[in-house]
Amino acid sequence: MAVLNKKSSQHSIELEDKYGAHNYHPLPVVLSRGEGVYVWDVEGKKYYDFLSAYSAVNQGHCHPKIVGAMVDQAKTLTLTSRAFYNDKLGEYEKFATEYFGFDKLLPMNTGAEAVETALKLCRKWAYEKKGIPENEAQIIVCENNFHGRTTTIISFSNDPIARKNFGPYTEGFIKIEYDNLSALEQALENNANVAGFLVEPIQGEAGVYVPSEGYLAKAKALCERYNVLFLADEVQTGIARTGQLLAVNYENVKPDVLILGKALSGGAYPVSAVLADDAIMGVIKPGNHGSTFGGNPVAAVVAIAALEVIRDEKLAENAFELGELFRSELNKYIENSKIASLVRGKGLLNAILINDSEDSETAWNICVALKENGLLAKPTHGNIIRFAPPLVMNREQLLECVDIITKTLKDFE
Ligand SMILES: Cc1ncc(COP(=O)(O)O)c(C=O)c1O
Repeated sequence: MAVLNKKSSQHSIELEDKYGAHNYHPLPVVLSRGEGVYVWDVEGKKYYDFLSAYSAVNQGHCHPKIVGAMVDQAKTLTLTSRAFYNDKLGEYEKFATEYFGFDKLLPMNTGAEAVETALKLCRKWAYEKKGIPENEAQIIVCENNFHGRTTTIISFSNDPIARKNFGPYTEGFIKIEYDNLSALEQALENNANVAGFLVEPIQGEAGVYVPSEGYLAKAKALCERYNVLFLADEVQTGIARTGQLLAVNYENVKPDVLILGKALSGGAYPVSAVLADDAIMGVIKPGNHGSTFGGNPVAAVVAIAALEVIRDEKLAENAFELGELFRSELNKYIENSKIASLVRGKGLLNAILINDSEDSETAWNICVALKENGLLAKPTHGNIIRFAPPLVMNREQLLECVDIITKTLKDFE
């Protein structure tokens, strides 16, 4: 009986396989505990987490300050809905708006919800402030974007797996090439109905594509020239991941609408937000938008704690320094490698390019081998492997990880 009750990875995988929808293809590892930069599987094997739940766990697994705030609040008051005030939401809104430098915050839960919120906000602003005729507003997006999974968001994705058989799609989006300023200018000129430009400062899911230096600042200037809102989706790049609090800070860009999620809670709880100044956020009136859970008191205290950890532990600075080290160490290896051709990224959002065809299994097989060697990472698209550890990592740990990665790659040369 004792044997039957003992948890095993295989058992957990079989349960998910039998009773869960098959909407993911996880690496065959079953995690049951996390602390800082480490996670453990049910058999007790320890791993470096090099995904951080797609950059949600920037502050490290189970950060005591974040978990403490969450547990205390969970014992006091968890949910009121926005039908009533709660005593934590206003404190959080004050804290976060001052932290990021905006007048107002609209609280939601997931990244996709925050993106949806930003799109609605942008459209409403376009009709009520810019004067675009009703139902004519258009929002410019980039090819190979990833902004989430709702019907509207996948309507402007160009990933066939995310889109196929989910139509009919939402209208009102113009797709242009990423990192192409003339494409943006062309889309803006001679089209008075453009309301906004939605962009990831680095395209994370697409494979950590860093745009050319100056792209974001020039794109913002173009948006200003054409009275179009610049909507920055920093769900993945934000909150210290790329070595600055926000990736747009590298180019001193203040977005008109800032979209945050993931690490806004340090991965403890679904917390997302849209921030904007009064001239924009003011178009949202009671009944226009909402969420039962958005702005709940647990989310509010968790987000304050998560942002304090980023600031107090200087995680942006740490991500910047360790990112430089990571890329320079990996580049030394890549110089003489046949299997890895490139490392790119900013701060601790990085990816390596595996020298094989896009549809090959090599990147996946390398991730399986990395797992065997004690490090968890996942391919993004095709032959690209993303490396995004928690930002609480130290230099010694990072060098140990570089060692694991290079030794693993060697076996595939
Ligand atoms: C840039 C970006 N936007 C939005 C999302 C969607 O966030 P969520 O999965 O919390 O809905 C993601 C998720 O990976 C993302 O990377």
